[in-house]
Amino acid sequence: MSDDGQIIAGFSKLGKREKIKWIAKNFLYANPIEVLNEFAGFWHDNIEAQKLLDGFSENTITNFPVPFGIAPNFMINGKVFAVPMVTEESSVVAAASNAAKFWLTRGGFESTVLSTVKIGQVHFIYRGQKEKLFSFFRDIKQDLIAGVKSITSKMEERGGGIKDLELIDFTETEKDYYQIRGYFETVDSMGANFINSCLEEFGVMLTDKIVASPQFTDQEKEVEIIMCILSNYTPECLVKCEVSCKVEELGTFDDGRISAQEFAEKIKRAVRIAIIDPYRATTHNKGVMNGIDSVVIATGNDFRAVESCAHTYACRDGQYRSLSDCTISDGIFSFTLTLPIAIGTVGGLTSLHPLAKRSLELLGNPNARQLMEVIAAVGLAQNFAALRSLTTVGIQKGHMKMHLTNICAQFQATDEETEKAKVHFGDKTISVSAVRDYIDSLRTKS
Ligand code: MEV
Repeated sequence: MSDDGQIIAGFSKLGKREKIKWIAKNFLYANPIEVLNEFAGFWHDNIEAQKLLDGFSENTITNFPVPFGIAPNFMINGKVFAVPMVTEESSVVAAASNAAKFWLTRGGFESTVLSTVKIGQVHFIYRGQKEKLFSFFRDIKQDLIAGVKSITSKMEERGGGIKDLELIDFTETEKDYYQIRGYFETVDSMGANFINSCLEEFGVMLTDKIVASPQFTDQEKEVEIIMCILSNYTPECLVKCEVSCKVEELGTFDDGRISAQEFAEKIKRAVRIAIIDPYRATTHNKGVMNGIDSVVIATGNDFRAVESCAHTYACRDGQYRSLSDCTISDGIFSFTLTLPIAIGTVGGLTSLHPLAKRSLELLGNPNARQLMEVIAAVGLAQNFAALRSLTTVGIQKGHMKMHLTNICAQFQATDEETEKAKVHFGDKTISVSAVRDYIDSLRTKS
């Protein structure tokens, strides 16, 4: 394939229509008008609303709609929520709703925020006497904190700020490499900008102070700041959620074929497998994140940050393991999820995206701690729903049922054909080929 025309200067300066025409011509080899109409079909009718969306990113040509659903009946810490969930995966919202309803009559979800500390790092190179650096750092630590007062004062008024700074020696593993690790409380904001601004200032101050100090030799003064950035690993921004009940209150499963005790043990065994085997743990935690990401996205938070942190936390002891745990003790079944969730309820997209604002309103305008509690509950519900299906009737039955509409759409089924397919497959195994054959048979008949 020739790349004539495929390389462009100033793409960002083109208008939306020109951008679309250019990709249609050079990459889609399609009629530019048809392509334009397709993309334009997803533009917001309201020009101001579209302008807002365009501003969130760069080189925007259209919007990419994903379903926004509601999982009702979530009782969390004694309060009932209708939880907003944004996901493209069929069966995620239904599974969360089912689990929410199941636990609604069994005491609901108990969520507790264990800590809310966030972390940032100044990575730097220092070629000199280690002891001198450590003693100097002890002397200037409070000055560093005082030196960012203009950045921290507003945050302090809200109850946040810098909790501590620590100098860490990495020279055993990387020559001359040290790190200032900062511990921050960012209250209701995710705090990325706040943390990064403080860190960059620390980097400048550290260099300036070392250069100005007579303690250091000329060589030692050549401090090299490598980078200043928050860490998305926040093991001390932790929330724990639990559901529990007497084993017999779990009821029976698979039309009475599985007793409450058997079910409890199956769930416990399934969790145990995800604790000992990383292959299973990855899928198990993916199920947890199906729920977590959906709410994180619906509330305008950064799901990549939450994801990467969760997975690092899952291997904090050196092996990737389940984020949830299950115990059966003295006749009580308990299922818990503990993970770090660094999110915010003010600033960023949370207050800019109209649907993120609505999601937060739907949740009663929670503060960050309350939102962490809700998100953890949805993660636990999702995990419970997946394990309940997997250990009883299997995942495909429910999953394919939810997926049936998608499969029908794949074959351009009419509403009438889809409705007929739902009835037909009510008690049958669903597969793509079975649905195709069924739709073909309907069309042949008519
Ligand atoms: C599918 O998106 C998620 C599951 O695979 C999770 C699990 O296996 O626990 C069903």
